[in-house]
Amino acid sequence: MTHLVHAIGHLKLNVTDPDAVIAEATDILGLHVTRREVGQTWLSSNGRAVELVLLHAAENAAHTVGLEALTVDAVRAAEARVAAAGCRILSTEPSLEGVAAGVTFATPEGLRFEIHTPIRDELYGRRHASTGVGPNRMDHINVMSPDPVATRRQLEAIGGLKLSERLVDDSLSWMYGGNRQHHILGLVKGVVGLHHYSFEFLEFNQYLRLGDTLDRFGKQMVWGPGRHRPGDNTYAYYTDSSGAMIECASAMAVIADDEAFTPNVITQLERPGNVRVMNVWGTPAPLEWRTHHFPFATIS
Ligand SMILES: [Fe+2]
Repeated sequence: MTHLVHAIGHLKLNVTDPDAVIAEATDILGLHVTRREVGQTWLSSNGRAVELVLLHAAENAAHTVGLEALTVDAVRAAEARVAAAGCRILSTEPSLEGVAAGVTFATPEGLRFEIHTPIRDELYGRRHASTGVGPNRMDHINVMSPDPVATRRQLEAIGGLKLSERLVDDSLSWMYGGNRQHHILGLVKGVVGLHHYSFEFLEFNQYLRLGDTLDRFGKQMVWGPGRHRPGDNTYAYYTDSSGAMIECASAMAVIADDEAFTPNVITQLERPGNVRVMNVWGTPAPLEWRTHHFPFATIS
């Protein structure tokens, strides 16, 4: 099946204290505010009009995972597949101003996705003055699902996402889209939620700056830096004041040879052997990372 979904489009989060989250997103991570209005704030790391939408709300929770398709036809093709995949259409209009087309749907497991055409991008407006580190782009999102096999089946049927790698018990799995990055979406088995969202770093020195900048704000990394085996990307994680976990990842391995590619299945689940198959280098995942959960907003 063709990849209708190309890449991560955006992420919407409900937050109770937007000022605190905005301060950390700008002063630590280095995003910039692109729109501020009653009820919501838009942030971006580059020339895209928005990558992260903060909805000012009475709870801290993930609201919608936005997946980018390249054309209106691709969005409409995805829309036509939603019902047959067992999911429910919530809207056939784009949720963000300036986006040509979008379809939002809910999964039976309680996740909400929007497949939408690309967000407006100012190609030569990528860099902005900031004391924060300054990542390149939002590159992947890991969601939590009580039935990740069902979630994968839905995303493959609707958006043409494909499995790239999984743990044999499906406690963790990864899916790729049209940009062939090893994963644009990760799935963690558990109570429905958001495990982390990730921005791409372009050079390793940015981890040093991240660690030092977090220290200035009285914070520390949760895990990292290190290099994951699945995806072969470097990583570091920290949590923000809303309780969401943010990853800073390097450019991942890409699956260019799609025809000959066979998804890897990790069968070694027990430590210490599991440490080597999950990590190229760096310390094993701490309990705080393994048990992290950020809720997903209830879908009415
Ligand atoms: Fe990740």
